[in-house]
Amino acid sequence: MTVKIAETSVPVHELIATRWSPRAFQDRPVENEKRQALLEAARWTPSAYNLQPWRFVVWERHRDAESFDRAFATLSSTNKSWVQRAPLLLGVFADTRGPEGKANGSAAYDTGAAVFALSLQAHSLGLHLHQLGGFNREALRDEFALPPEIAVLTLVAVGYRDEVDVIEREELRKRELLPRERLPLSQIAFAGAWGTQL
Ligand SMILES: Cc1cc2nc3c(=O)[nH]c(=O)nc-3n(C[C@H](O)[C@H](O)[C@H](O)COP(=O)(O)O)c2cc1C
Repeated sequence: MTVKIAETSVPVHELIATRWSPRAFQDRPVENEKRQALLEAARWTPSAYNLQPWRFVVWERHRDAESFDRAFATLSSTNKSWVQRAPLLLGVFADTRGPEGKANGSAAYDTGAAVFALSLQAHSLGLHLHQLGGFNREALRDEFALPPEIAVLTLVAVGYRDEVDVIEREELRKRELLPRERLPLSQIAFAGAWGTQL
């Protein structure tokens, strides 16, 4: 099974170093208790004014294929080619309403943090997840009659990782085996002033 460990400049927690986003998933359902644990981890994320703007819709292929298919239909064809094996698809949404009728400018920021909490919880339970921006947001909004104040952010495929050869498309099989890459620290963190090396 593919393992992708981050090459870090100093050691980081194992969950961070070994988490990655596979496209090869086993055709195996996620246990209810694990599914609940993912959502529970997201629930305890900090947020501006503790507004907790994150909202999720869970689509389970083995338990409710009809609803799963309605969400699946909104994916790009490249994403469909591998998400078809994922047992669980999460819709990630944010309530954009803030206090006193104002907009919550942190809604997307806080919801992204919640998804990362969820992703570390998933990894700690032997699951992997892969976030997706490649889908038709308006089609998803219409299909599930989402209220206007709800922002459609991402979809997340969740499941147990499988061997690379279960991925249909050759190009994606190749990408599955590439090392994980990141910008160097020197490009993302500065000392005392913008652009000054740490
Ligand atoms: C908001 C967001 C949207 C993404 N959209 C897609 C997508 O549509 N299809 C896909 O295959 N991967 C998608 N990804 C996965 C990223 O490409 C992946 O997380 C990134 O390359 C880093 O890889 P790693 O998670 O394995 O470290 C998305 C990730 C995020 C956070």
